[in-house]
Amino acid sequence: MATRALALDEASAFAADVRNSLTKPGQKELASKYLYDELGSKLFDVISLLPEYGLTRADERLLRRYAPAVVECIPGDTMVAELGSGSGTKTRSILEAFSRCRHTSYFPIEISPTALAMCRRELADIESISIVGFEREYLDGLVEVAARRRSGQRMLVLFLGSTIGNFDHPADLNFLKEIHLILNPGDALLLGTDLEKPVSRLIAAYDDSLGVTAAFNRNLLARVNRELDADFVLDSFQHEARFNSETRSIEMHLRSIRDQRVTVAKAGFSIAIREGETIWTESSHKYSLAEVEALARKAGFRREAQWVDGEWPFAETLLVRY
Ligand code: AVI
Repeated sequence: MATRALALDEASAFAADVRNSLTKPGQKELASKYLYDELGSKLFDVISLLPEYGLTRADERLLRRYAPAVVECIPGDTMVAELGSGSGTKTRSILEAFSRCRHTSYFPIEISPTALAMCRRELADIESISIVGFEREYLDGLVEVAARRRSGQRMLVLFLGSTIGNFDHPADLNFLKEIHLILNPGDALLLGTDLEKPVSRLIAAYDDSLGVTAAFNRNLLARVNRELDADFVLDSFQHEARFNSETRSIEMHLRSIRDQRVTVAKAGFSIAIREGETIWTESSHKYSLAEVEALARKAGFRREAQWVDGEWPFAETLLVRY
């Protein structure tokens, strides 16, 4: 009963978001969090394997190489929470490093039940690690995890994969401030951020030659068709990746190749879209190292350590809450 009510709430929140972001004046938008339905999540897993897209491999390389150093920086009884664990693959090295030193509880927080189940399965074999998953939005889940803290226990929060880069400014700062409010002084946050690199490399990464990112982007329209009974004609929209040099972000858009009208029946509206007009679906900010540190400082964290990948500029920064 409770699950069904939640599903209905989610469906109406999705319908309201789609209506608001497609009918507002100016640039039409769809929020990037909706890219990740079951099919979108699978497409993202394939993106992570593309030769042009080095982000996930850089993240995993750094975690494999420096997990023991991360654990060394956090002495004593520690609980580990992860925001958006996905299938848990990239977290293995951190948990294995903990398991070599002490028993540790791991709390993956993930909105997708499928990903959460995979995460539990993927990591179940690591000795001395107990796993309790939370099927929640990030901050709601973190509040619940923090409530389980034993006296004197420290918390390490993992926010990997540069998901922070998909938040607009100042939403990234506000999000870190919210985390700061939930944590205690001395708690730590391991933050993965994708770094600035040549624009040509970025464009190739977000407009790959196999067209996987294009499918990932168009799937958002397909999802609106499936779940909200809309009539987007997918091949009337071209995938576009462009670099916004003001915000230093890669933006994904869907460009309409003709004048068209689209009805979203379950959200109760219909819109005209002009030839050449775009729907903005995602921003992926690329940070400088100084920017990561400044952002963290403003949110109430100090930089304890930082590791940068040599092949694909990407940083893992260990922050400690003041
Ligand atoms: C999940 N996130 C960090 C990815 C990124 O690179 O911003 C999402 C993505 N979009 C297109 N390709 C990958």
